[in-house]
Amino acid sequence: MKADEAYIRESILNSTAKVVKDYNPIMPPYQGQLKDDEVTALVEYVKSLGSAGN
Ligand code: HEM
Repeated sequence: MKADEAYIRESILNSTAKVVKDYNPIMPPYQGQLKDDEVTALVEYVKSLGSAGN
């Protein structure tokens, strides 16, 4: 699936909302633990990693 900004943000804040196939929902949700600019920085970082066929 294409990891757009909204998807990455949701995957960090509410990590159990959509769990990647064949993975267990062990990632903790970061809602309430990170400031908005910290979440934005993480989203930018994850985007910079790219992915196959990107
Ligand atoms: C600030 C720290 C973290 C960030 C930014 C982060 C980010 C992400 C993102 C963006 C995804 C979605 C990947 C995709 O759909 O291709 C993901 C999935 C996942 N993360 Fe994290 N993660 C963090 C911490 C953790 C921790 C501490 C654990 C385990 C103890 C963890 C375990 C997982 C697992 C197992 C998945 C795949 C299953 C799922 O979709 O939930 N992550 N993470």
